[in-house]
Amino acid sequence: MQTRTNSQEKNIGFTKIAIFASGAGSNAKKIIEHFGNNNQISVGLVVCNKPEAGVLDIAAKAHIPVLIVDKEQFFRGNGYVDELKHSGIDFIVLAGFLWKIPQNLINAYRNKIINIHPALLPKFGGKGMYGSKVHQAVIAAGEKESGITIHYVDEHYDNGDIIFQASCPILSDDTPDTLAQKIHKLEHENFSRVIEECVKKV
Ligand code: GAR
Repeated sequence: MQTRTNSQEKNIGFTKIAIFASGAGSNAKKIIEHFGNNNQISVGLVVCNKPEAGVLDIAAKAHIPVLIVDKEQFFRGNGYVDELKHSGIDFIVLAGFLWKIPQNLINAYRNKIINIHPALLPKFGGKGMYGSKVHQAVIAAGEKESGITIHYVDEHYDNGDIIFQASCPILSDDTPDTLAQKIHKLEHENFSRVIEECVKKV
């Protein structure tokens, strides 16, 4: 259980992150661990659109509150801006969240939302390009390398300014599964540190 001082509760000089994730949550787990003992940054909320997602167990074990979002309210309502503000969220990290971020959420958190994508953007991005579909497409295209891209989120899929990229070779016997393992390793090695650098710039 994390304890907080009064200034932290009021977010004075303190940044609260929400992790948006819909899958297994291996990146969310790393991020939660990374900020577990940080005096300036904490993970205050996990936002998820799938009630059966593995990331919910990870949040529960770490005693992090969860917000399950509904599609209708996400896209046609307020984009959950009020709920996020009410929870004191200052910064949003997309870690395997597959819905497009609606305009009112982007407006409320301009330059304060970052995403990780499992390929070297601008290649292999856009609608429908997520998880193993990305790795299948990369291998089918005969690419000799792939990697990860961490970028700011804007109105368009996988389009905002690139913050960080790291690459790995693709060998002739690589499959979408083996490539996914290499990509996850790169993500786990780099994402938390890059998040911390971005948060400190805000
Ligand atoms: C990660 O590889 C992330 O890059 C990808 O989903 C995976 C989530 O894994 N995101 C996308 O494809 C977004 N277009 P995790 O649930 O184990 O963190």
